[in-house]
Amino acid sequence: MVKDQDIQKLKGFREFLPGEMKARRKLFESMRKVAEKFGFREIGTPSLEPKELFMIKSGDELVQQTYSFKDKGGRQVTLIPEETPTRARMVKENKDVSKPIKWFSESKFWRYESTQKGRLREFYQFNYDIFGEKSVEADAEIIAVAVEMLKELGLEKAAEIRINDREMLEGILSTYGIEQSMVEVLNIIDDKEKMSQKEFIEELVDAGLSDEESEVVDKVTELSGNFEDVMPELEQLVPDSEESIEAFERLSELKELLDGYDVLENCIIDLSIIRGLAYYTGMVFEIFDKEGDLRALCGGGRYDDLIETLGGEETPAVGFAPGDAVIELLMKREGLWPEEEIETDVYVLNVSESVKKKSMEIARLLRDQDLIVEVDLSGRNFGNQMKYANRINTQKLVIVGERDLKKGEVTVKDMASGEEEQVDLKSLEGYFQ
Ligand code: HAM
Repeated sequence: MVKDQDIQKLKGFREFLPGEMKARRKLFESMRKVAEKFGFREIGTPSLEPKELFMIKSGDELVQQTYSFKDKGGRQVTLIPEETPTRARMVKENKDVSKPIKWFSESKFWRYESTQKGRLREFYQFNYDIFGEKSVEADAEIIAVAVEMLKELGLEKAAEIRINDREMLEGILSTYGIEQSMVEVLNIIDDKEKMSQKEFIEELVDAGLSDEESEVVDKVTELSGNFEDVMPELEQLVPDSEESIEAFERLSELKELLDGYDVLENCIIDLSIIRGLAYYTGMVFEIFDKEGDLRALCGGGRYDDLIETLGGEETPAVGFAPGDAVIELLMKREGLWPEEEIETDVYVLNVSESVKKKSMEIARLLRDQDLIVEVDLSGRNFGNQMKYANRINTQKLVIVGERDLKKGEVTVKDMASGEEEQVDLKSLEGYFQ
């Protein structure tokens, strides 16, 4: 029989103590602030969905990683591994919402991945999406949101946005005769960063490409750098097909708009960015730390067919999602992670039993000022209350004693400087403003 003390937390799942939660709340607040500044509105989504929702377009890899099971009604259900399919369904069902629809949310996700640095089985994402807008302006706004988020977190110098266009890359590859095994080739490119060059070429040959073709794929997907440098080279590679030329022109327009947002220096073109999820149709991007020792912080792109595939009206869409785990690792590495400490504005310390009621009254008065206030709940003596007040990082102590009360006063102590002051009870209410 399993004893209680043998039960441990599951691998890949985390729990957070109040100090850690405080720091995480700051992270999420920053992401929310950016969303609201750009006019994204918050939505709420279910954690459990019918399994088929993810079978349609998320791609095999993700479906393999889901926590799926039969519920008591015999339905195949899945704990959401991502939010994009749910959002697509919501857009399909809410036809009357005026477009463009700009939604954000903070949610928990589950993927049965092999756990490693920055990859867990339960994690959080913020999702930002724009629906009903095909223009490059929407792509540019999504990237501007991503850079603004990096700036808000202080990461704009440590991380960069790597952009590609799937349609353009497919066009380039098909001119080299790589049309038949395109899906397989794209999957191999998606894994390129995890392989050596030799392994990459071998995988392509295994997928049916000739040595020559494999080398072309390697060369093309090595192309990366800032827009100014890469665009002329790219222009030479882009084939004479309508889709590829259009994709290249969109990329040129995107460059101008990103310049307008003053975020061009945060972006580079990288032809190896594919995105594993199967629903992306055009521009795709990922955010990586510049030192390159962490997995992607964020991923996103354009997915113009998903809503139609789910049976809805033709609705172009573009969006991205930052994950909490890698961002935390990068912020810690850069010394930017918020302090993991709880805070207390005031601790009301009662010197004796006789002033307990008065202490509660003072605490209530101060809480009415929206201050974080604690009082003694355990009949502790002066010294122990003081110790506790220190442990909860109290800013100010209000010491309530019989002698002071007789004069209509309390003592207020500043915990940082140690300075004490007698304060009239009547003026206590405004004292902490
Ligand atoms: P994704 O690339 O699968 O995209 O995930 C986005 C981000 O979530 C990743 O860059 C990573 O930071 C985080 N993430 C993903 N899996 C894990 C994991 N197992 N552990 C920790 N963090 C993880 C999507 O999910 C798309 N639905 C994003 C999107 C929104 N595309 C358009 N709109």
